[in-house]
Amino acid sequence: MNRVNKPNARLSYKIGRVLLSEEKIQKRILELSAEIREAYRKRPFMILGLLNGSLFFVTDLLKNLPLRTEVEFVQLKSYAGTASTGSIQGLEWIEKKKFEAKNILVIDDILDSGQTLSAVKEILYDSGALNVEFCVLLKKLKKEQKPIQPKWVGFEIPDVFVVGYGLDYEGMYRGLKSIRSFSLIQK
Ligand code: IMP
Ligand code: MG
Repeated sequence: MNRVNKPNARLSYKIGRVLLSEEKIQKRILELSAEIREAYRKRPFMILGLLNGSLFFVTDLLKNLPLRTEVEFVQLKSYAGTASTGSIQGLEWIEKKKFEAKNILVIDDILDSGQTLSAVKEILYDSGALNVEFCVLLKKLKKEQKPIQPKWVGFEIPDVFVVGYGLDYEGMYRGLKSIRSFSLIQK
């Protein structure tokens, strides 16, 4: 698809092929939400959505979860362009007292290095959470990844940069209904 040339920039980029179509994503979300409902059938739980990337994933899952499910969000940022900065901004906004004695299901768009989910897990247990599980839409298959085992993974994908369905490049392309590969091109 589009090859976008930004004026005065040495980089252009290309939005590539569809890795996951809208239909495929929506079908998987129905399966995941059924499994989550079953897993928490006997105990109340709270969702913690990691923004901005999980914005569609949380809302689509939530439509199929029990109406009493509590939802919280925190906005975290660790990427600049197509690379991780190695540090996570926003962890300080996690309000620890909200998570005390709760079963928490953390929802994120993608598990990449695992740095974000490891840090969130530590903070939540530190806050007195009873139990912390993870649900990610995507898991990148890569050698170097923190030992985080999400209970729910929508799709495993190769170690490529992707955009769409909430995932962005520099804040853009979140609104794509499918998930597509994305590459930078050096001019
Ligand atoms: P991690 O801490 O390395 O696991 O990275 C987690 C965060 O990096 C995700 O929540 C995303 O916001 C962002 N991220 C990682 N890979 C991609 C990608 O391919 N496209 C867009 N964002 C990504
Ligand atoms: Mg994210």
